[in-house]
Amino acid sequence: MADFTAPKGVPDYVPPLSRAFGTVRDTLLRAADRAGYSPIELPLFEDTGLFTRGVGESTDVVSKEMYTFADRGGRSVTLRPEGTAGVMRAVIEHGLDRGPLPVKLVYSGAFFRYERPQAGRYRQLQQVGIEAIGSDDPTLDAEVIAVADEGFRELGLSGFRLDLTSLGDTACRPAYRERLAAFLAGLELDEATTERARINPLRVLDDKRPHMQDMLADAPLMIDHLCPECRAHFERLRAILDAQAVPYVLNPRMVRGLDYYTRTTFEFVHPGLGAQSGMGGGGRYDGLMAELGGQSLSGIGFGIGVDRTLLATQAEGLTVGDQSRCDVYGVPVGEAAALALSVISHKLRRAGIRCDMAYGGRALKTAMKAAAGSGARIALVLGDRELAAGTVEVKNLASGEQSTVPLADVLPVVRAVLDARPAVPVSG
Ligand code: HAM
Repeated sequence: MADFTAPKGVPDYVPPLSRAFGTVRDTLLRAADRAGYSPIELPLFEDTGLFTRGVGESTDVVSKEMYTFADRGGRSVTLRPEGTAGVMRAVIEHGLDRGPLPVKLVYSGAFFRYERPQAGRYRQLQQVGIEAIGSDDPTLDAEVIAVADEGFRELGLSGFRLDLTSLGDTACRPAYRERLAAFLAGLELDEATTERARINPLRVLDDKRPHMQDMLADAPLMIDHLCPECRAHFERLRAILDAQAVPYVLNPRMVRGLDYYTRTTFEFVHPGLGAQSGMGGGGRYDGLMAELGGQSLSGIGFGIGVDRTLLATQAEGLTVGDQSRCDVYGVPVGEAAALALSVISHKLRRAGIRCDMAYGGRALKTAMKAAAGSGARIALVLGDRELAAGTVEVKNLASGEQSTVPLADVLPVVRAVLDARPAVPVSG
């Protein structure tokens, strides 16, 4: 047993899985980049008040899950449990909202929630998120949703579902909330549920217990009580998603864990993930900027769980990204050859070719094994005899073909082998 282990509920990603993790994150980031989102880098901890006010004091995230502590100066700080509040804080602080709108930002990194750890639920989780601030055009809602959908599809995922609904706004939600509270007051609820209903009646709709689902079958739903503006906004969004052939299902009982949502809300769900099936989620937060002391601008965004998206690729049996560590592997026999190969490796790397080599005077057989294990497509084998002749053996590790190449020609020959597509068998 090691003296130290990672903190409870915190995943390590070590090779080879770390490579797949990076591919998942980068693929999601690229989908945002293609839609014009600029990267934003934010602190991992913030003034605690930013989250209590931004995310909402009654949410589980704020009331039970935050890593909050006093720093040595006595300030209360919190490890960020989510990204939207911090982005909004930075947008206001740097006056980005005074420039061209919408402001479109993308981020990735670690978030912290003191949750009960289980499969797919961690205390340090990683997200890729985007936020688009300063427009309530439903075309933007569709864009945000489509960026996530595209990212998932580019990874090869197909077994997920997009749940969509509208939570209304300050014009229609208060009246609906009262209607729902009145309905709930007529039910016989246990103590914990009564308390939940008191804090936020909407949360009760999410109760998965069968007897609760039965009792809630006739509960009024927000989607049926939207004001004309919210209804038109939602209809327009649906029309755009339909036109773009982005599939979704209406889920008017969806409940998000954060308080800032208005109008459009959505969740990508992967049934292959088990109990923690949310791969990503988001929505509009039209009151958040004003709530945090900024002007009254609307916004929409998503947070995708990178950990869970990786788990989803595994659940679908997908191999994500290139599993190889390098493309070329140097196998020197003898000290002089090791020096010459270290120079060649350096040259290849400068030319953009991924290259590794055997160190420490490994025996030829051991070094060839390491070459195969690295995933390289080419081994460069160099011994005293080749050195004397000014050549190197270039071995194609996939086909087994080997040729003797003048040292001066290594770069173009390696390039040619790497660029050559594997022959496709012709049938018929
Ligand atoms: P969220 O739904 O709380 O939204 O989190 C987004 C995603 O992060 C989840 O769908 C899930 O994949 C992942 N996630 C959350 N908690 C955990 C955990 N404990 N372990 C592993 N993965 C987890 C937000 O955070 C919002 N800021 C999203 C957003 C951006 N809404 C608007 N803009």
